[in-house]
Amino acid sequence: MADTLTGPAPAQPGTHAARLEHVSKAFGRPGAAQPVLEDITLDVAPGEFVCLLGASGCGKSTLLNLVAGLDKPSVGTIETPGGRPALMFQEHALFPWLTAGRNIELALRMRGVPREQRRPEAERLLSLVRLSGAYGKRVHELSGGMRQRVALARALAQDSRLLLMDEPFAALDAITRDVLHDELTRIWAETNLSVLFVTHNVREAVRLAQRVVLLSSRPGRINREWAIDIPQPRRIEDAAVADLSVEITDELRGEIRRHGKH
Ligand SMILES: Nc1ncnc2c1ncn2[C@@H]1O[C@H](COP(=O)(O)OP(=O)(O)OP(=O)(O)O)[C@@H](O)[C@H]1O
Ligand SMILES: [Mg+2]
Repeated sequence: MADTLTGPAPAQPGTHAARLEHVSKAFGRPGAAQPVLEDITLDVAPGEFVCLLGASGCGKSTLLNLVAGLDKPSVGTIETPGGRPALMFQEHALFPWLTAGRNIELALRMRGVPREQRRPEAERLLSLVRLSGAYGKRVHELSGGMRQRVALARALAQDSRLLLMDEPFAALDAITRDVLHDELTRIWAETNLSVLFVTHNVREAVRLAQRVVLLSSRPGRINREWAIDIPQPRRIEDAAVADLSVEITDELRGEIRRHGKH
């Protein structure tokens, strides 16, 4: 591919893909504001894969939206020196009136990729997510797993150095999710992207991440971190993945018990 498609240079070693310093977020009117996140300090290194794990409602999506620049922290600072991060949600959010290929080309157009380069680049991205041949398919012709592959290709079309993922595989069946875990691990290794991946699924976090960061609830704070040195590619049923998942689940259960509900 032409150099124009390689996008911003990767951050220099030793710098960060994202840096959050003492970030707090509250919603509501001043005086009656509800704190959702409190004093979050977190670095994501270039090329690092970090999973943010926490109970439903603890503020994971809020945190991701702040890193994406969709909202501003009430307190604290967020830096993403590689430019605007790419974002992928649980819902694919593809335009149903466009084909898979056109959805990707739209992202390329927004990035300023010249018209004649868009089609070949969309085809390359579809092949990266193993969907060669789906260029002309409309969204309703694709399975849930295929839609998330297109959504991933579209996120990659933004050519950001940082990919933010908010429970992107939560609505898929276990087998499809397993396959997409493999694909994401492969693409991450091939592209050297930094990934900040939000989930409430402990196994998924241990399957994917180099580091798991556990958030507490009400307000969300960083509770504990685990560095995961189990070699990739991992399988969700690996004994080492299962063992660590039990330890993290115990911690998460204790956290949920302390805050009642759920
Ligand atoms: N724009 C908003 N205005 C007011 N409150 C909000 C807003 N966005 C989120 N909240 C509140 O912040 C809290 C955290 O929400 P958030 O969606 O970040 O949680 P989550 O960890 O992503 O949950 P889930 O796992 O269910 O997706 C919730 O109590 C939610 O009601
Ligand atoms: Mg959420």
